[in-house]
Amino acid sequence: MLRPPHKRYHHLHLYAFSGTHPALRDLPDPDFIGCWEEEDLTVLFFHREKPELPSWVEKNFGLSFELSARVPFEEWGEGRQDLKPFRVGSLTFTPVWDPQPGALLYDPGVVFGSGRHPTTRLMLQALWELWNHKGPFREVWDLGCGSGLLTLAAAKLGARVRAVDRNPLCVRLTRHNLSLNRLDAEVKEGDIREFLPLEADLVLANLYKGLLLDLLGLPSFQRARYYLLSGFNTTMEKEIRMALEAGPFKILKRYQKEGWVCLVIRKS
Ligand SMILES: C[S@@+](CC[C@H](N)C(=O)[O-])C[C@H]1O[C@@H](n2cnc3c(N)ncnc32)[C@H](O)[C@@H]1O
Repeated sequence: MLRPPHKRYHHLHLYAFSGTHPALRDLPDPDFIGCWEEEDLTVLFFHREKPELPSWVEKNFGLSFELSARVPFEEWGEGRQDLKPFRVGSLTFTPVWDPQPGALLYDPGVVFGSGRHPTTRLMLQALWELWNHKGPFREVWDLGCGSGLLTLAAAKLGARVRAVDRNPLCVRLTRHNLSLNRLDAEVKEGDIREFLPLEADLVLANLYKGLLLDLLGLPSFQRARYYLLSGFNTTMEKEIRMALEAGPFKILKRYQKEGWVCLVIRKS
């Protein structure tokens, strides 16, 4: 995430290593953006080139250097070109470098959740509309919170939100984005399956097809009142619908944008 003196992102300098080490999650360098850990891989992100970093990490933490790259911020991940304020219902979201009166500020960081991806937008739209037709909801889970945009929205609407992500960088960024807006939520690090059964009025799950199929089949996942599901496209939708039909679920509404789908589900 951004720390002084950096006010926005330009180029990302990435350094990938085999192995992980907890000390690498918080490096005391103002150019440090974050540490992405995925299974046995660590990727360190900086605003500037760090030529000494590979040997320093190898020597002090025992990880082995794999590769480095320089990537324009706009080309990273799900796309970060031209990030600007956007509105969903009465909620406005704006990148932290472009504050607007009354808007929810967010640092997009380098994890999923820049605000540009159709699935994030569909989830926010569906959340806003469901909240107005069937809400308010007291207990909301955000499964796979990424940068935390859905968590921010649900917390702003007044829910008690619990969020989880297995990527520690997502957990840090979601907490940071909550604090930028003086909002509260419990943000937990781990695999979603560790937090089952979910007792909730509403579950937000913008994940991926395989994980959604696994979750939908678990009785411990089937205890909430409403679910918003996304992270799959029109070609994957049939499998998701079959899994829903096999469980205690009723589809209330469907949204689609650029080939991506979001389903609003009620437990039947
Ligand atoms: C598509 S992103 C959605 C991010 C955010 N909710 C949004 O809508 O913009 C999915 C997120 O789920 C997380 N994730 C994937 N599998 C997970 C698992 N098994 N347990 C916890 N988090 C997981 C990923 O790290 C990623 O941040």
